[in-house]
Amino acid sequence: MKKFNILIVGGGSTWTPGLLKSLCVRKNSFPIGKLTMVDVNEERQAVIGEFAKILFQEEYPELEFEYTTDKQAAYAQELDFVFVQMRTGGYGMREQDEKIPLQHGVIGQETCGPGGFAYGLRSIKDMAQLVTDVREHNPKAWILNYTNPAAIVADALQQLFPNDKRILNICDQPENLLRSYGRLLERDPRSFDPVYFGLNHFGWFTHLYDESGNDLLPELREMILDGGFRPVDYEQRDQSWLDTYAMVEQTVRDFPDYLPNTYLQYYLYPDKVLKKLDPTHTRANEVMEGREKRVFEACREVADKGTTVGASVVHNDAHGEFILIVAESIAYNKGDNFIVIIPNNGIISNLPDDTMVEVAASLTANGPRPYAVGEIPVFYKGLIEGQYAYERLTVEAFIENSYQKALQALTLNRTVVSAQKAREVLDALIEANGDFWPELK
Ligand code: NAD
Ligand code: G6P
Ligand code: MN
Repeated sequence: MKKFNILIVGGGSTWTPGLLKSLCVRKNSFPIGKLTMVDVNEERQAVIGEFAKILFQEEYPELEFEYTTDKQAAYAQELDFVFVQMRTGGYGMREQDEKIPLQHGVIGQETCGPGGFAYGLRSIKDMAQLVTDVREHNPKAWILNYTNPAAIVADALQQLFPNDKRILNICDQPENLLRSYGRLLERDPRSFDPVYFGLNHFGWFTHLYDESGNDLLPELREMILDGGFRPVDYEQRDQSWLDTYAMVEQTVRDFPDYLPNTYLQYYLYPDKVLKKLDPTHTRANEVMEGREKRVFEACREVADKGTTVGASVVHNDAHGEFILIVAESIAYNKGDNFIVIIPNNGIISNLPDDTMVEVAASLTANGPRPYAVGEIPVFYKGLIEGQYAYERLTVEAFIENSYQKALQALTLNRTVVSAQKAREVLDALIEANGDFWPELK
């Protein structure tokens, strides 16, 4: 059986221990020859790397493993898959992304609104560099990208590398929703055949077929309207995530055609969500005090004790497992169904071909083979077109160093609307992002 060589970029991510554990769990279905982790932050990388050494000693002794901050050496190896989960600027800048808009009375969120815009302008530069560097040595390696904001990163990479067919941008939120539907319906979520359309963090489920072809969506809608909605792993979730999932009930009441992605709350109910956000303590603070602290403390403890026995380090196995079942579908040409971010090219027949849409596809050794969606109704089309114009203008602002396009982008965003606010927030974000951003003239 072929063994695959994998590189994790952003090895110091809070999600890495869960991914490493999943690699151990799946070593028979997806055997790895060499695993490398690379990160720009030596300290973060070392903590997770030392944990990994002990984990693999115990559970995967045949695995060749290395961690490094030497990007060029990491990219120069022979690679089959590159998993990318970087955060340019770290949680410190995430905090700014969330707090600066709130100071101007606008939603502060890491992937939506001005926060996502700011994070997007930081991510594009590093992601474009990564693709250039990897391709120098590995023209055929699959780059599986999870880096946020995925909508903007995907559109930028499509603009910058239009002929590269081996970059796949994918988000776990549709999968999290499918798993949550599964728990509510008491069914195996991998047996679902979903129909989904939209942009990343901006989409809708229109059907949820079971193995016999029955559409479970009407039943699910009634269950949500009757009893509300919770994430599959609600026992482990922070209150802010529970509040986010709970908003699905109101969204379904107002727009009963389909089931919404949870991120739509920021665009459909900005005033209501804004009231719940605390400008002095945002999700970034919650993550730094929660997940980040927990993961790094647990990894340090494993290194001190020299064993993972009894360690509670795997905070969300589901995310790690998801990354691997996606890779396995490509590696073994399985053609399993996933919701992916790809160029439209007629999938949604009344949207432009070059829109990066999020839709269901069969995932093969040649990449995603999408299922047609057809025409979408005017309301959804209008929402998507506005949001897409915002995303595209953000990417063009980056490529063209254009202040004007950045201002247009933020003005179009449904969380902002006012051009005056857009300018105020933009100027504050320029100040805060310094050299992380391109110069906007
Ligand atoms: P994190 O800050 O804990 O981890 C990111 C790591 O990337 C850090 O250790 C950082 O030092 C490193 N990094 C930054 N710039 C880099 C570069 N240029 N090259 C290599 N490494 C670099 O953040 P996190 O919360 O664990 O999230 C990691 C990423 O994954 C984020 O982009 C996040 O938004 C994304 N994410 C996406 C999904 C999804 O399904 N789409 C799910 C979870 C997380
Ligand atoms: C979901 C989203 C991701 C996001 C993640 C973590 O899975 O799809 O894009 O990065 O949640 O968000 P958090 O606020 O917990 O860091
Ligand atoms: Mn996502």
